[in-house]
Amino acid sequence: MVMAVRFSPDGFTNTRISRHLIERSGSISRDIHDTALFRTNGLIGLGRLIVSEFPQGVRIYNPACSYGHEPISMALILSNFLGGMDYVIEKYPVFGSDRSNDVIEVAKSGLIWLTEKNLGALKLFGTDKHLINPVKVDDKTTEFELSDSLKRAVVFRVNNIVDEIRSIDSSKPSVIIMRNVWYYMDGNTKDALVRALRDNLSPRSILSIAYGDSSLSYYGIHPLGGYFAGICDDISGSLSEGERDTFWEKTVFRKR
Ligand SMILES: C[S@@+](CC[C@H](N)C(=O)[O-])C[C@H]1O[C@@H](n2cnc3c(N)ncnc32)[C@H](O)[C@@H]1O
Repeated sequence: MVMAVRFSPDGFTNTRISRHLIERSGSISRDIHDTALFRTNGLIGLGRLIVSEFPQGVRIYNPACSYGHEPISMALILSNFLGGMDYVIEKYPVFGSDRSNDVIEVAKSGLIWLTEKNLGALKLFGTDKHLINPVKVDDKTTEFELSDSLKRAVVFRVNNIVDEIRSIDSSKPSVIIMRNVWYYMDGNTKDALVRALRDNLSPRSILSIAYGDSSLSYYGIHPLGGYFAGICDDISGSLSEGERDTFWEKTVFRKR
C-alpha cells in the first residue's frame, strides 16, 4: 500500500511514520499531497521579508500545508536568520493546517521523510541540527525526527483553508502562506476564501501564494493574483534577487 508517489518506499509499513498513522487513523491514505522541504527558494526571500516587515514578531499561518514540509522550512529559515529556534517559538510561531486528517497526522508525528531530491536540503539553514536520528527506509528515502525545539515552533491542526483564515485574529497583521492550493478548490470555495481574506485580515498582513496559483496561463480563468488586485499591493518585487521563485511575479501581497 502506498500513501503518495513521493512517499512510497518499499519498507513503508515498517517505518515510524506508517506505524504512527496506523495507530492514529487505522489506515494509510493513498491520496497524493505533493510538497517538499525547501520546495521553492521563494520561501527564503519571504522569510527575510517577514523579519524586516515585522521586527517585533508576527504569527505565520500556513494553510494547505500538506505533510508540513513548508511550515517546517519556514521555521528553519527564520531560525537561521534570527539566531535560534527559541526566537521563532516566541515571536514568529508557525501554524500549519490542512483539510486532510492523514497529512496532518504525518505532520504531527514529528517525523519527516526526505527523498534523494531534498536530502540536499540538510546542509541548508542549520537543518542538520533539527532533523535528527535518520533511519534509511529504502534506497531513495530516509526518515528523520524533528528536534524538540522545531516541533515546538510549528503547530499543526486539521482545518479547511476558509475556516482557518476566518479564525485568525483580525486585530493585528498576520502572514499567510497558501501555496499550490488554488487549483484544488471549486468556485464556491475560491469565492469564500477571497471574501475571508478581504474581510478578516488586518491591513499590512502579508499573503504569499505560488506562481501557479497566481498565473492565468496555468490554471484557466481564476488567477488568484487578479483577485487580490483590489485589496492588496503586489510587493513581490521586495523579495531580493536570487531569493525569489523563478516565477516570482504576483506571488507576495500586502493587504491595504
Ligand atoms: C499540492 S499540496 C500543497 C502543499 C504545500 N502548500 C506546498 O506548496 O508545497 C495541496 C494541499 O492542499 C490541501 N487542500 C486542498 N483543498 C483544501 C482546502 N479547501 N482547505 C485546506 N486544505 C486544502 C490538500 O489536502 C493538499 O495537502
